[in-house]
Amino acid sequence: MNILVTGGAGYIGSHTCVALLKAGHKVIVADNLYNSTNQALDKIKQISKEELTFYQIDVTNESAVDDIFTNHNIDGVIHFAGLKAVGQSIEIPLTYYYNNIVSTMVLAKACKKYHVNRFVFSSSATVYGDNTVPFVETMNLLPTTNPYGETKAMSERILTDIAKANPEFSVALLRYFNPVGAHESGLIGEAPNGIPNNLMPYVTQVAKGKLEKLRVFGNDYPTMDGTGVRDYIHVVDLAEGHVAALDNLKEGAHVYNLGTGKGTSVLELVKAFEKANGIEVPYEIADRRPGDIASFYADASKAKRELGWTAKRDIIAMCRDAWRFEKKYKDLVESK
Ligand code: NAD
Ligand code: UD1
Repeated sequence: MNILVTGGAGYIGSHTCVALLKAGHKVIVADNLYNSTNQALDKIKQISKEELTFYQIDVTNESAVDDIFTNHNIDGVIHFAGLKAVGQSIEIPLTYYYNNIVSTMVLAKACKKYHVNRFVFSSSATVYGDNTVPFVETMNLLPTTNPYGETKAMSERILTDIAKANPEFSVALLRYFNPVGAHESGLIGEAPNGIPNNLMPYVTQVAKGKLEKLRVFGNDYPTMDGTGVRDYIHVVDLAEGHVAALDNLKEGAHVYNLGTGKGTSVLELVKAFEKANGIEVPYEIADRRPGDIASFYADASKAKRELGWTAKRDIIAMCRDAWRFEKKYKDLVESK
């Protein structure tokens, strides 16, 4: 199929392009490179040994999106393009609502106009709010406390209503848990600008000596060792989940958790990283981070049952591949 991948130069999008090309699909990427570079596109080609088509456009731009649908016989859309920094979304909510909601509506409108009935959307486990664990797709969603999370909940509702009104429209709403790691080639991965907010990129930068030590946000949570528990998922497993979702789309809007179903604490992740890579990660215990939830992980059984997909890579592989990319990325940047 010809798949339009918005945000395909980004972290999860680039890995999904590789998985799509490997599965024999043709890929058309639309990305404004706000949070990514051209380099990722070259690396996708290098890994997959396949070509792809790239449009540097903003997907909130209706006529630019229309041009892509005119130029290509698009069979399906995977919509990754979006802004994702939770803290920033509180500071500039209008930018987040505009970018994340309008992009979804522009793409849905183009799908309607060009009779494209396959749509896969990047949602987040954040839409569950502070629910009881494990998170199951049938749960009532709770408020997310930040505009970023609200854009995901709203986009899910918009796409669900569109699917209700157009019976042939098939949408998979994929709720990601915590994506980490990188492609095993070390050529693509997560390269956040500035000081990372998320745990794994912070750990890799401490390991590299770029940051002095990890601050563990709270050790008095009601968890096995008092530190926060999350469901970390290898980004390549997540990418493969998109191919499975695309292959198993059915009419209507359907929600799937993409997680491993297993919780890992902050200290367990630090220990796994040290074991996987033979590098010490200095840390100190700090105050809880406001807005954090003690523990969440997926009930991953629906994706297994309906998509035939399960995450295969364990926490050691996630740590090894994250570190390999961090080392290689440094080389790539320094050699430029
Ligand atoms: P990313 O920032 O690496 O990738 C997003 C890409 O979209 C970037 O390349 C950016 O340049 C592009 N983009 C943003 N707005 C655009 C626009 N208006 N037009 C064109 N391109 C645009 O982020 P990611 O981690 O790969 O996340 C991909 C998607 O998954 C996002 O929608 C994100 O909210 C969602 N998600 C991510 C996580 C995570 O932890 N990484 C968790 C849950 C959900
Ligand atoms: C964050 C986002 C969430 C997004 C998710 C996916 C926030 C508030 N939420 O959630 O919307 O869907 O990423 O990746 O940003 N930790 C430390 N020290 C650090 C960084 C993190 O101890 O320097 C701890 C956190 O307290 C938490 C765990 O590590 O217990 C994971 O944190 P993080 O990687 O930021 O992910 P989430 O909090 O799950």
